[in-house]
Amino acid sequence: MKSFHANLGAGIDGLSVREHDIPEPGPTEVLVQVHAASLSFRELMILRGWYPLPVKPDVVPISDGAGEVIAVGERVTRAVVGDRVTASIFPRWIDGSFALEVAAQLGGSLDGMLTEYTLLDEEAVVRIPDHLSYEEAATLPCAAVTAWNALTGGRSLRAGETVLTLGSGGVSLFSLQFAKAFGARVIATTSSEAKARRLRELGADEVIDYRATPAWHERVRELTGGAGVDHVVETTGRLEQSIRSAATEGEIAFVGLLAEDTGVPPIDAKLLWMSGADVRTVAVGSRAQFRAMARAIQVGRLKPVIDRVFAFDDAVEAYRYYEHAQPLGKVVIAHR
Ligand SMILES: NC(=O)c1ccc[n+]([C@@H]2O[C@H](COP(=O)([O-])OP(=O)(O)OC[C@H]3O[C@@H](n4cnc5c(N)ncnc54)[C@H](OP(=O)(O)O)[C@@H]3O)[C@@H](O)[C@H]2O)c1
Repeated sequence: MKSFHANLGAGIDGLSVREHDIPEPGPTEVLVQVHAASLSFRELMILRGWYPLPVKPDVVPISDGAGEVIAVGERVTRAVVGDRVTASIFPRWIDGSFALEVAAQLGGSLDGMLTEYTLLDEEAVVRIPDHLSYEEAATLPCAAVTAWNALTGGRSLRAGETVLTLGSGGVSLFSLQFAKAFGARVIATTSSEAKARRLRELGADEVIDYRATPAWHERVRELTGGAGVDHVVETTGRLEQSIRSAATEGEIAFVGLLAEDTGVPPIDAKLLWMSGADVRTVAVGSRAQFRAMARAIQVGRLKPVIDRVFAFDDAVEAYRYYEHAQPLGKVVIAHR
């Protein structure tokens, strides 16, 4: 079998392919034939060298993937041969709050999904909703679970509330889709008219071009009659503008930064305190959150948005496309 390997900070040029024997599952492991993997911003962070969690040398990269169980260890009870599965990024985080003890993650401190076969601890396994292909299911573990946690893991979203999403990346698109499924109003920001059109097609009620309107928080206030939004899914690190967009008692789910530390604007502590809004950091989500999300996706027949699918042998090209082409939707690497 073939696997790609990566190193922290080694860049896309540092990706390499190696041949291995197909491994045998240990007593509590399942052997999965991987059919698809998908790229998220974390994969670029790892190659750029500023991912916050540990990354082992020569890791098999990519946290997100989906495939078929083809063998199980003798003590496995959570999966059988033939199951269509994906995996929780944090296999040891079953439920409850995130903690460092459960921070081991696929494609980081543990081998990930850019491979033909992988061994997963049975605790990591999550069944794929029936209506999703392997390619669609491979988009769920990072972006979708993070969006689900952002909207339901703290001040849970209710019908009629307003959600602000920033940019049209994977987390933002899943947040838009989940928010509409909940009966919420969505204000989205993006960088171009073409992306704005697509966001409206996907259900966004209002779209703001953050390039044409750099003070987009003022527009968010106008669009909410001055009240601000109930939820911000903050994927950019522009925290001050997100605070200025949030309602008193609103929640900012602080998901991530799109720039290294030096590029992030500072926060005005007084502004934060005066806003009355809660800021809650989000680290993907637990297996319990993943399973709850998968049930909602199944019932709502929700389909992930895919921009482009690359062949496994073209994985390096997929990374380059993801980095430079400004896709709208997930970039998937499939074994066809
Ligand atoms: N904490 C966690 O567990 C967790 C999990 C997943 C992701 N994250 C973080 O969440 C963020 C998004 O991840 P992702 O995988 O969804 O990324 P992604 O799919 O690569 O999308 C990034 C998007 O950001 C938008 N963008 C770029 N500059 C922007 C700006 N100045 N203002 C607003 N939007 C901008 C772009 O969309 P437009 O062209 O439409 O603007 C781009 O498509 C990253 O910071 C990532 O590290 C954190």
